[in-house]
Amino acid sequence: MNSFLWGSATAAYQCEGAWQKDGKGLSNWDDFCHSDKNNVNPVTGDIANDHYNRYEEDIKMMAESNQNAYRFSIAWTRIIPDGIGSVNQKGIDHYNDVIDTCIKYNMEPVITIYHWDMPINIFKNGGWENREIVKQFSKFAQTCFNAFGDRVKTWITINEPSYDTMCCYGIGNYPPNVKDLNRRWKALYHMMLASAQAVSVFREGGYEGKIGLVSDVYHVDSLIKDQDYQEAVANAEVFYNLLVTDLCIKGLINERFLIKIKQSNYDLSFIKDEDIAIFESGIVDFFGANVYTRILVKPYTKGPTKLTTNNTGDGKTKENVVVEYWFEKDEEENTIKNPWGMEVYPKGVFDLLKYMHMRYPGFPIMITENGIGYYDDLNEEKIKDDYRIDFLKENICWMLKAKDEGVNVIGYFVWSTMDLYSWINGYKKRYGLVYIDYENKNKRIPKESYFWYKAFIETQKGEEK
Ligand code: BG6
Repeated sequence: MNSFLWGSATAAYQCEGAWQKDGKGLSNWDDFCHSDKNNVNPVTGDIANDHYNRYEEDIKMMAESNQNAYRFSIAWTRIIPDGIGSVNQKGIDHYNDVIDTCIKYNMEPVITIYHWDMPINIFKNGGWENREIVKQFSKFAQTCFNAFGDRVKTWITINEPSYDTMCCYGIGNYPPNVKDLNRRWKALYHMMLASAQAVSVFREGGYEGKIGLVSDVYHVDSLIKDQDYQEAVANAEVFYNLLVTDLCIKGLINERFLIKIKQSNYDLSFIKDEDIAIFESGIVDFFGANVYTRILVKPYTKGPTKLTTNNTGDGKTKENVVVEYWFEKDEEENTIKNPWGMEVYPKGVFDLLKYMHMRYPGFPIMITENGIGYYDDLNEEKIKDDYRIDFLKENICWMLKAKDEGVNVIGYFVWSTMDLYSWINGYKKRYGLVYIDYENKNKRIPKESYFWYKAFIETQKGEEK
């Protein structure tokens, strides 16, 4: 359909609301948000920004800002409410309407099949830790291919296997709120296997179009360049990037991962001999990179694995990452950070793209998320988010430089289309190009960054080679 994709992205639980409408089943996030465990920012996605009912207004706004693609996810609980049983026609009808609306406004629908919300039934049976999910997920994926594959030509199996499982089983701030990397590796592995299985179903079914996987990837660097620091960088690259990228782009388990994980005495009994054939037949057509910042690391010194993050946006709580025998996270003082501690480092996009190109020469890469969370102020119906404009401008500039230097970049998506539920960070951390006035019937108000993006995309028309 379109050539270079300029769009923005959302995920079902973060924006749809309508948590009990039209036969939808309950998800892990519905359950968590209504439980006592949700105590950092105790809000829910019950209504979110009401995108379920207002998708046409939102898609129209995207089209009016020259965007030609919309990346969104499908709630598993709308399609197969209990995760394993019968299909809910009303759920299919809803996404048919969303897809048709995209096409009406000449926007390419880019669909993420799984963006973190799973049927509660599957979650209670172990979720990603239970190998049964590989079959259950590929059945869900196949249902989507069959229902929407006549119009959807760009698919994404899973969003951020690495970050999601890190939060669920490492930091413990997402359900099931576990702090045990042993369980994390198992869940992550099953996610990758499920993705590969879904890709293989896509190939065998002869569906048209391309299919990829999206992951959070980082340019990993160190402030000191001696041998110990280089070792820490190599370990962190495996930890954050290479287990995922090697599996989905090459169909291989990264060797350094196997060495490190054995040294750390993790249990690897979840890896079965037959899996390698699934990974080999599950190689993706493109890789979706969610790029927000770089990661600085230093050598591991002492103590057990410890992973904490800043979900309060208080501007001071420091993230702490110590992975026993692997690396520790480092920080450059006096760099610009948002109130949640994310370093603003636009060149990271360029470094990451060059790094991916070096490891996987010519492999197509889509920037599937890029953006910055901030406390935006609504002033006389305007949001002056210069910090976001600067962030996007510089990130895009570095991305285009990498593209000019030969990296095969095929699209760029701002996170996010409009403000939405930022998972455990609640609603105050805003990423949108469009402001949501939650106090005023979820009124949509385009931010200055929306107008900047619109003008920028205009300049790119005709630039396409
Ligand atoms: C990505 C996710 O990790 O980053 C999104 O795919 C998420 O769903 C986004 O919202 C920003 O992270 P957060 O935690 O600040 O909302």
